[in-house]
Amino acid sequence: MRSYKAKAVEPIHLPPRDDRGAALDAAGHNVFNLASEDVFVDLLTDSGTGTMSDAQWAGLMRGDESYAGSRSFQRFREAVAEVMGFDRVVPTHQGRGAENVLFGTLLEEGDAVLNNTHFDTTRAHVANQGADAVDCPVEAPWSAGESGQFAGNFSIEAGWETVEEYGRDAIPVVVLTITNNSAAGQPVSMANVRETAAFAEEIDALFVIDACRFAENAHFIKTREAEYADAPLADIAREQLSHADAITMSGKKDALSNIGGFVGVRDADLFERCKQRAILYEGFPTYGGLAGRDLEAMAVGLREAVEPPYVQERVEQVATLGGLLAERGVPIVTPTGGHAVYVDAAEMFPQIPADQFPGQRFVCELYREGGVRAVELGSFAFPDADRPEFVRLALPRRTYWREHLEHVAETAATVREKADEYVGLEVTWEPPMEELRHFSAELEPVA
Ligand SMILES: Cc1ncc(COP(=O)(O)O)c(C=O)c1O
Repeated sequence: MRSYKAKAVEPIHLPPRDDRGAALDAAGHNVFNLASEDVFVDLLTDSGTGTMSDAQWAGLMRGDESYAGSRSFQRFREAVAEVMGFDRVVPTHQGRGAENVLFGTLLEEGDAVLNNTHFDTTRAHVANQGADAVDCPVEAPWSAGESGQFAGNFSIEAGWETVEEYGRDAIPVVVLTITNNSAAGQPVSMANVRETAAFAEEIDALFVIDACRFAENAHFIKTREAEYADAPLADIAREQLSHADAITMSGKKDALSNIGGFVGVRDADLFERCKQRAILYEGFPTYGGLAGRDLEAMAVGLREAVEPPYVQERVEQVATLGGLLAERGVPIVTPTGGHAVYVDAAEMFPQIPADQFPGQRFVCELYREGGVRAVELGSFAFPDADRPEFVRLALPRRTYWREHLEHVAETAATVREKADEYVGLEVTWEPPMEELRHFSAELEPVA
């Protein structure tokens, strides 16, 4: 049962099947090129797509748009301190802005950054400073099965191997991404947070948490790590972050807002350096590229994100979608993570080779069959990586109801029933940067 009811609604409609086919052709078989009004259930991302509460909308009206020292910034700073335990905070326009501010301040050419798994923008910002982004995942979450209780963890063993390779002086930063988005949204245990913090301390590196989904991760700790079963969710959420020297945050996730991000740091000198870089790239450090009203929305959203009924329903809704798909024989990664269900398209379409993008074919057919938009995270999105052919169905927060999830599952089941009828796709146009091709490339069915 949801612990909220709708106060404002946004109409959606399912265009006729022929129109969906025509829209797909016009989009070059790339759903990023679709108009949102042609999409019925939009599971492209959980980032900035959620529904704000009435308290957040009220916060927008309180927005103080002063260039410097606004009341909105004070309220935002208090919320970050109270919910996340960081007193020194620099707002940014979104998560990647926070990455630019922090990593641009900390890294030099030739450095290496260790992370349980770098999210794409994190990897890009590390690379942008001339540093190497090294992943240290504990196990492949796609093979974790039911035993994968904390399949998002950082592997300390892999961490030490990387220290041997680069030498400790070349590793100024160790990052832990909670939950681990690039590893199927799998959670990280509190024990692993502690171990990774100790590892970072031992090699004299700054310990950074990418806290985008800190509330969802706290829920997994509460439900899966015995010693936290009776601890209040808000305490667990703060305890995870108490081990970090700094955090980067996309407010578009667990601050329940449509835009915004920030860096939190403990050290006064690092804070000053981050503020200077923020002025260059984001804006004056009391607004960071945001309107005062955006800071208000994040301040309220952060507090709502650690309310137990909200986060429990959030994570359970993802599990419900996973269950509906699995019941219909759609191959998914289990157990499901915090924000999305991942479908294994290679298992769905064994006749389509990786270089003909089985995941992208599944994405296209989900749209054609039911107006559902998802995203490919396999060979099309990551051309050079040896990754499974995943399609991610990400749930916006507080937005869809069970009927929508049933529609998604029925649509996926229809595609599965016809699986052997489909051929692969080939790229007909792509942008110069291959790493960014899945956002805008165009494709057509293989002849
Ligand atoms: C783990 C993680 N880090 C960083 C980011 C970047 O945040 P933003 O999209 O707000 O720039 C994302 C966004 O999806 C993310 O999932």
